[in-house]
Amino acid sequence: MKYCPGNCGLTEWMNCEVRRRKQLQSVSCRGPSSTQQSVRYSQSCSFSMIPSVQVHPRKMVAAPHSQSRGGGGSTSDNTSNRNRMESQGARLLLDLFLFLLTSVYYVLEACVLTLLPLRFRCDPDRLRGQVALVTGGAGGVGRFLCVKLAQRGTTVVVWDVNAEGIKETVKAVQAAGGKAVGYVCDLSSRASIYETAEKVKKEVGKVDIVVNNAAMLNCKLMLDIEDEKIERTFDVNILAHFWMAKAFLPEMISSQRGHIVTVASVTGILGTYKCSDYSATKFAACGFHEVLYTELQVEKKTGVDCTLVCPYHINTPMFQGVKPRLRPCLEPEYVAEKIVLAILKKENFVILPNILRWFFPVKFFLPAKMCWSLMYNVLQTPQAMMKFNGHEEKSKIN
Ligand SMILES: NC(=O)c1ccc[n+]([C@@H]2O[C@H](COP(=O)([O-])OP(=O)(O)OC[C@H]3O[C@@H](n4cnc5c(N)ncnc54)[C@H](O)[C@@H]3O)[C@@H](O)[C@H]2O)c1
Repeated sequence: MKYCPGNCGLTEWMNCEVRRRKQLQSVSCRGPSSTQQSVRYSQSCSFSMIPSVQVHPRKMVAAPHSQSRGGGGSTSDNTSNRNRMESQGARLLLDLFLFLLTSVYYVLEACVLTLLPLRFRCDPDRLRGQVALVTGGAGGVGRFLCVKLAQRGTTVVVWDVNAEGIKETVKAVQAAGGKAVGYVCDLSSRASIYETAEKVKKEVGKVDIVVNNAAMLNCKLMLDIEDEKIERTFDVNILAHFWMAKAFLPEMISSQRGHIVTVASVTGILGTYKCSDYSATKFAACGFHEVLYTELQVEKKTGVDCTLVCPYHINTPMFQGVKPRLRPCLEPEYVAEKIVLAILKKENFVILPNILRWFFPVKFFLPAKMCWSLMYNVLQTPQAMMKFNGHEEKSKIN
């Protein structure tokens, strides 16, 4: 009996087990001709406590059938099945035990890091000399982000569709003593993203930090949003994240230095009235970040970090007029400062304000009607959205 040579964790073990079962099914359908495939699978799978390679496929699949029909399986087959299940159970218990042990460490580590002042947690000058690209940097949170990143010594690359806004941001960065270069780029166009990315690489150099900050919303009832506008929201708010990753991630991986920041929203955790397109793309952005993180971890692409930021309402033109009942809107400068600190500290997930972290899980265990009542009668979020007085589409290509 072999254990995983690659020291599989619990999740990998479970994945292997699911794949193994599928493989057994396909062997049972195709008969002996699938032997090769079965062997290939067992070689590629890092966890091979599986007798399938050593046992003829016919035998391998005969046992479950004969058992389910109430008899006929040989005693040695039954014994080996029982042994296999026992050792799988033992392995599961061991993985659980190791998981609990490491969890204690991770919780303690998180507590210590939370209490530790920044200067003991990381080098506050860590970003000096790096190149940071901020999408949607022509205004709102993006402009503050550009200024704050420049103040930490990064060269800032500003992308936006708003050429006038870009000029203002570049001026603001220079006034703060930093370096900035602006590029007009329409993030709803894949070609425009790839083309501008090539220009940046030639003219500025390798990009170390990408902040996917640009976004748009329509703030209308789902059935009232024009089809093209829904598509544009998806292009800017989520598809652009993929093209940005494809343009900049490979170099980050090869140089073992990089950071991708995804600015989502609390509406990416809890759907919001009149925000169907926006909310859907922000849910997608959360998923994008989680999978990016998982892939970097599994593929051991160390050196590349990623951060997901989910802010509550911010006092920018995006949600103009909206007055939440729970607490006033966040200020864009505060949000930008928190994002820069999260990059410095390599934080994986930031929710603003942090206290909201404790409330969102209730959505998964309270009855749906109770959640709705909390939203409508107590928090009054739909009513707050009704006060939205729209904002002109400022993002015009100049
Ligand atoms: N404002 C809020 O209440 C709020 C709440 C939670 C999350 N957020 C998120 O924070 C981020 C910043 O939002 P903000 O409040 O500063 O918004 P904003 O509207 O002030 O800024 C968005 C920027 O994106 C740019 N942009 C829009 N479409 C573009 C395109 N096709 N190509 C290039 N640039 C484009 C705009 O020109 C603008 O400069 C967004 O991701 C937003 O979803 C905002």
